[in-house]
Amino acid sequence: MVPFSRGSLFLAPMVGITNRAFRTLVYELGAPDWFVTEMASAEAFLSGGRNESIYLDPSPRPLQTSVQFAARSPETLAKACNAVSQLPAEYRPAGIDINMGCSAPHIKGYGRGAALLDNPSLAREMVAAAREQWVGMLSAKIRISTSLGEDGTIALAQSLAGAGLDCITVHARLDTQKFRRKADHRFAVLLAEVLPIPVIANGDITAREECAALLDSTHIHSLMIGRAAVQKPWLFASLKSGAGSGEGERGTPGSIEPGDEPQYGTRHMPEIDLLAIALRFIDLAETLLPPEWQRETCRRVFSYYAANVSFAHHLRFLLVNAPSLGAMRQILRDYFNQVPQDRIFAQDQILA
Ligand SMILES: Cc1cc2nc3c(=O)[nH]c(=O)nc-3n(C[C@H](O)[C@H](O)[C@H](O)COP(=O)(O)O)c2cc1C
Repeated sequence: MVPFSRGSLFLAPMVGITNRAFRTLVYELGAPDWFVTEMASAEAFLSGGRNESIYLDPSPRPLQTSVQFAARSPETLAKACNAVSQLPAEYRPAGIDINMGCSAPHIKGYGRGAALLDNPSLAREMVAAAREQWVGMLSAKIRISTSLGEDGTIALAQSLAGAGLDCITVHARLDTQKFRRKADHRFAVLLAEVLPIPVIANGDITAREECAALLDSTHIHSLMIGRAAVQKPWLFASLKSGAGSGEGERGTPGSIEPGDEPQYGTRHMPEIDLLAIALRFIDLAETLLPPEWQRETCRRVFSYYAANVSFAHHLRFLLVNAPSLGAMRQILRDYFNQVPQDRIFAQDQILA
C-alpha cells in the first residue's frame, strides 16, 4: 500500500531547484500530492557536511515528501536510511527514494544513479539494504537502461520490487538520452502492466490531456512532473482543478497598473500575478536557504520561469546574470512595468 491514491501528481526531484524554498512556493500555490527533494549524496549526508541537513529538510509537507539519495554502496545507503529513520518526527520525511537514473558523470562515474541500471544485482542489494533500515515508503527512480534494453529494464524493476520497493518512477528515456527526444511513455505502460507495485510515469508531462491519456486505460498509477512545474509553479493547482496548463495563454492586465502592489497566490484568486510569484520566490529563497544557495536557486528557477513572458530570452538573460537577489527583484519590477500585459495570467485563460 502506498500513501497516495491513483492519479496522484508528484513534483519531480531536481538538483538546485526542488529544495525547501521551491517546494514551499509550489505548496502555497496549490500542492502536488507528493514531493521529492533534490538528490542528496548518502555519503555526504553521513559525513555531516555543513548544508547536508538542508538537502534532507522535508518541509513544508514532511508527510507527503520523499528525500532522494544517490549512494555508492548498499552499506552507505543503509546507514543513511537508518540516520533518517532516527530523525525527530517533524524532520523525518515520509519516504526515501533511490536515484537510479542520473547519468551525470560525477554521479554515474562513482557508481551511483544510472550506473545501477548497468548492475542489476547491486541495484537489488541497494533496495534490500534500504528496506532493512527504513519502514517508510521506499521508491526508486529509474530510466530505461541502454545496456539492459527494455526487457532487461523490466526484469530489473521486477527484481527491485521483490527486494522491497513500494513504488517505482520511470523517466521514460534511455539513460543515455538527453531531453532532445520526447519521453517514450509506451515503456511506462508496459512496465505498469507487469509490476506488482505502483508505477509513476515521468517525462514531458505538461497538460491535463496528457495526464488523462496516461492514466486512462493503462495501469500507470500516478504521474510525476518536473520542468513544467518550474515554469508554472501553479501547475498542480490548475491540473487538479480540472484544467490545462495554460500553455501559451496570457491574460490581459485587467485592473493591474504598472507599480501596483503584487498579489500572490492562486487558491482564492482569479488571476496569477507573475511578478508577485517571482518576488515571493526570491523571499522564500532568502529566508529558507543558506546564503550560498540563494542566488543560484533563483537563477535556476527563473531560467524556466522566464518562458512565461513575451521577451523570455531577454528576461532570462537579465535574471541569470543578476549579481544579487536585490538586482533580480528590480529586474522583475522593471520588466513588468515595461510590459504590463505580461504580468497577469487570467485564471479562466490558464484553465481553458
Ligand atoms: C535541472 C534538473 C535537475 C534534475 N535533478 C534530478 C535529481 O536530483 N534526481 C532525479 O532523479 N532526477 C533529476 N532530474 C530529472 C527529473 O526529475 C525528471 O526526471 C526529468 O526532468 C523529466 O521530467 P520532466 O519532463 O517533467 O521535467 C533533473 C532534471 C532537471 C531538468
